[in-house]
Amino acid sequence: MPRIAVVEGDGIGREVIPVAQQILAAVRPDLEFFPVEVGYGRWERTGEAITSADIGTLKRAAAILFGAVTTPPDPNYRSVVVRMRKDLDLYANVRPVKGNAADIVIVRENTEGLYSGVEEVGPDRATTLRIITRKGSERIARFASNLAKGRRHLTIGHKANVIKADTLFRDVCISVAAEAGVPFREKFIDALCLDVLQHPRDYDVIVTENMFGDILSDVAAYLVGGLGMLPSANIGDRHALFEPVHGSAPKHAGKDTANPIAAIRSSAMLLEYLDDRENAALIEKAVGQALASGVKTRDLGGTAGTSEMGKAVLAALEQ
Ligand code: NAI
Ligand code: MG
Repeated sequence: MPRIAVVEGDGIGREVIPVAQQILAAVRPDLEFFPVEVGYGRWERTGEAITSADIGTLKRAAAILFGAVTTPPDPNYRSVVVRMRKDLDLYANVRPVKGNAADIVIVRENTEGLYSGVEEVGPDRATTLRIITRKGSERIARFASNLAKGRRHLTIGHKANVIKADTLFRDVCISVAAEAGVPFREKFIDALCLDVLQHPRDYDVIVTENMFGDILSDVAAYLVGGLGMLPSANIGDRHALFEPVHGSAPKHAGKDTANPIAAIRSSAMLLEYLDDRENAALIEKAVGQALASGVKTRDLGGTAGTSEMGKAVLAALEQ
């Protein structure tokens, strides 16, 4: 039985992950779940947000279901998510933006770029290095090209006109896509952010550097009902972690108002990774049915709470 690490994290992660876990358990009673506590809450309690032992535990899981963690804007605090993505080498962040208006997959490089962690904050000058390597660009370009092969085409989002590091990213993406025989085009990321909202049907797979993909996915969430709807996968060659695109949303925490659909859809992506397409599709279908029945959380214009939304999806599954 596959062992799934469950990391609720902070804020609304503690509310949406139990719902997603319940739905996973309903379709796959054979899965074994074990909790791992990391995040800001743990840091406040113990002085450590995540340890090397935790990383070891996560590495032994067949897959990881993750909520969200709070990252305080403190120069001495290192982001837990960024550390997990690096330590587990989860280089591909896959973010499907799928709804009535769009069917896009954002593929974000997840280990380098502006989130490399090579930075310094002084009293009068602060720097963060945007590291782009050939190896990092090649593997994300290959991942995105393989994905685009089974779909329509690839858009390479970058800012090579201004940021010199992006010329390497762009050139590598172009040669990998050309070699793979994938139809591709390139676009400056700022123009892309507007165009994807105006002409979402012109986009299929989009590949970007780390920060650009982070920003673009929140922008594109607008097309499908907001952040409460977007799931994601963080994939490496040996490990994989599934999480909603949204963060810990402290404003909503503990109120039973967060939308659990992004987390539920992330659990469907986890099943796909475990080669269980059938149950992944069942979960997606149940989400659609629950929404069609009129049950919606507040971010979608409804009145349902987190647990009520989860119950509606469970009920649709059991039909
Ligand atoms: P956020 O994604 O947590 O929330 C932004 C806004 O989006 C919320 O105020 C809310 O209005 C809406 N929203 C997000 N998820 C929702 C849901 N499931 N249901 C209903 N509404 C939802 O981003 P924010 O406010 O910038 O960051 C809050 C904290 O989360 C910060 O500490 C940040 O560092 C952390 N964060 C963690 C991430 C992770 O663990 N992967 C990712 C993004 C942010
Ligand atoms: Mg983000």
